[in-house]
Amino acid sequence: MKIYPHNKENIKRAAEIICRGGLVAFPTETVYGLGANALDAVAAARIFKAKKRPFFDPLISHIADIAMLREIVSSPSDTAVKLAEAFWPGPLTLVLPKTEKLPGIVTSGLDTAAVRMPAHPVAIELIQRAGVPVAAPSANLFGALSPTLPEHVAESLGEEIDMILDGGRCSVGVESTIIKIEEDRLILLRPGGLPLEEIEKISGKKIEKPDKSTLIAPGMLPYHYAPEKPLRILASSEDMDFSDSETAFLLFKKPKKALPKSPMPSIEILSPSGDLTEAAANFFSVLHRINKSPAKRIFAEDIPREGLGIALADRLHKAAKKYKDLWKN
Ligand code: TXA
Ligand code: MG
Repeated sequence: MKIYPHNKENIKRAAEIICRGGLVAFPTETVYGLGANALDAVAAARIFKAKKRPFFDPLISHIADIAMLREIVSSPSDTAVKLAEAFWPGPLTLVLPKTEKLPGIVTSGLDTAAVRMPAHPVAIELIQRAGVPVAAPSANLFGALSPTLPEHVAESLGEEIDMILDGGRCSVGVESTIIKIEEDRLILLRPGGLPLEEIEKISGKKIEKPDKSTLIAPGMLPYHYAPEKPLRILASSEDMDFSDSETAFLLFKKPKKALPKSPMPSIEILSPSGDLTEAAANFFSVLHRINKSPAKRIFAEDIPREGLGIALADRLHKAAKKYKDLWKN
């Protein structure tokens, strides 16, 4: 097993692996990342190979301080600095013009870099010790569920990587919000762990949806984040028949009607009280559990599109889209 507790010695060892061009999975507040030296093109290429990720899907570079930002991003605008000061470390990724120093493989040949400073002490210490920005996508196979526990990483990528640093359960539980800054405009590339309202409040700007001329970020591909079983979304749990033992039920909150006693079919509740922060933190681990259950299909209750619910509904609807032709009505 390659899961190592996050003590000083193991973080030092992980930093050495990064500096030698290896791959380390490490915790962040959103999901586990699969890290390599962002300034080393060969190391970054290993990430794509391990994840079976297409080279057209660019990586996020993780930094520990603003000096590292200046290494890979050229003259960030006032709006970028304002957002970085307000929300870093935290679940916000900014897409900004890149410098020559960042290899093209990391950005899939784009002239912009995606950057964030993660709010996890283990991630920050690892990046600081390595002394380089760390390129890291989520530590799962391309298109599969994101990992929020070290065991999720071990199950999907254990053979491909050098080390997994254990930082416990990810507190936010969904990937970062990605905002592209063009001059002074803010363009949403992916809803995520930082609610859009907060970004609009601090920046004083309305976040725009990308238009057709904006390059579509692969995180926006319709079939992302898919569990291995067909998933269908129902407006509410009222319409679900919990006695169906072949179906796993993914509920946002505790249903009004009584839950069946034994034998318990697979019923997972993201947050009994309907709290979106709690639901986000549980989201991927619940889907991993359903993946492993004997259920043949998943019926999911829709999630309200407000605050963090925008990111959760985005992932749920993308998962459902993959299977939409299976359902006749
Ligand atoms: O929370 C997170 O963001 C996690 C943790 C590990 O930090 N990382 C993550 O990375 O979700 P990943 O690879 O799963 O998603 C990165 C996405 C790409 O799919 C793409 O949509 C966008 O970031 N991206 C990266 N560079 C970009 C660029 N230059 N322009 C537009 N989009 C970019
Ligand atoms: Mg991912």
